[in-house]
Amino acid sequence: MNNISTDIHKAKTILEQDNLVAIPTETVYGLAGNAFSETAIKKIFATKNRPLFNPLIVHIHSKELLDDIAEKVPQKAYQLAEAFWPGSLTLVVKKKSDIPYLVTAGKNTVAVRVPNHPLTLSLLQLLDFPLVAPSANPFGSISPTAAEHVANYFPETVPLILDGGICESGIESTIIGFEEDEPIVYRLGAIAIEAIEAVVGKVKVMNTEEAAPEAPGMLLKHYAPKTKTIIVDDIENFLKENSLPKIGTITFFKKIEHNNLVHQEVLSERKDFKEAAANLYQAMHRLDKMNLNLIIAEPFPDENLGKSINDRLNRATK
Ligand code: TXA
Ligand code: MG
Repeated sequence: MNNISTDIHKAKTILEQDNLVAIPTETVYGLAGNAFSETAIKKIFATKNRPLFNPLIVHIHSKELLDDIAEKVPQKAYQLAEAFWPGSLTLVVKKKSDIPYLVTAGKNTVAVRVPNHPLTLSLLQLLDFPLVAPSANPFGSISPTAAEHVANYFPETVPLILDGGICESGIESTIIGFEEDEPIVYRLGAIAIEAIEAVVGKVKVMNTEEAAPEAPGMLLKHYAPKTKTIIVDDIENFLKENSLPKIGTITFFKKIEHNNLVHQEVLSERKDFKEAAANLYQAMHRLDKMNLNLIIAEPFPDENLGKSINDRLNRATK
């Protein structure tokens, strides 16, 4: 049985022994280990069944520590760190030589962020090493946004889950890399492009195919429920024309009127992107437990966090 607790001292002991602890962040739960321990890093890949070519994010407790992890950091990276850390922004910058290649999948760059969760920040302050932490789900499945999701995924193999409640943002961090010191978005996420651009001006957003070689984790199928999922512009009309058993839906604010619906998830009745993003994975986890034949989602407006939600919905259908 998993040990779910809020005891960061227990977490420290386990991490110091090269074992893993699931940690809460404001985005999703992470599966954490000592960033300098080869044993711990290997356990992360093995537990998640994650391919070794997919690099990990290094979590630190303060932006002042960025220069311990990275070098030749572009000016705009510092500006972004200043604006968004602690928070849901991951920077991909040139790694310092002592960062293990196992963390970076052999690349000379490293992904870094300061998560914005009080429990995890306190834990990081107690430790004398940073934590590498991918999302705490088996490779390819929906990221966990509650301690209970992690426990369901790994009933035996994770010795401790730190319980920090439900993740406030509920969707992974926005990942930004640099090309000739200019920011490029590798992964859409919890911080909207509009907010990034307000700090550093216009940024390039890579599409998934472009991002794949740069950010090797950006495989098309990802974040996916086990239940078949499709995206349909007009769900009510689609349901009228197709008679399908056991359906669940995901909409932004609209209620679907239909007799056959087993369950519907309305992500934000008040049409709030932040609330919708926070509810997205919670909704997917609930729907995925209902033995449905099909999950039908509608596309979100292509702006603000709507873009990030569409990115995750699209991956869920692949
Ligand atoms: O919100 C988040 O970012 C969560 C929490 C736990 O911090 N973490 C997370 O980690 O989503 P993960 O491993 O599921 O996704 C991290 C992605 C990888 O898919 C990889 O593509 C990208 O970060 N990444 C890591 N290091 C990179 C590097 N050196 N260059 C390019 N992309 C990198
Ligand atoms: Mg992940």
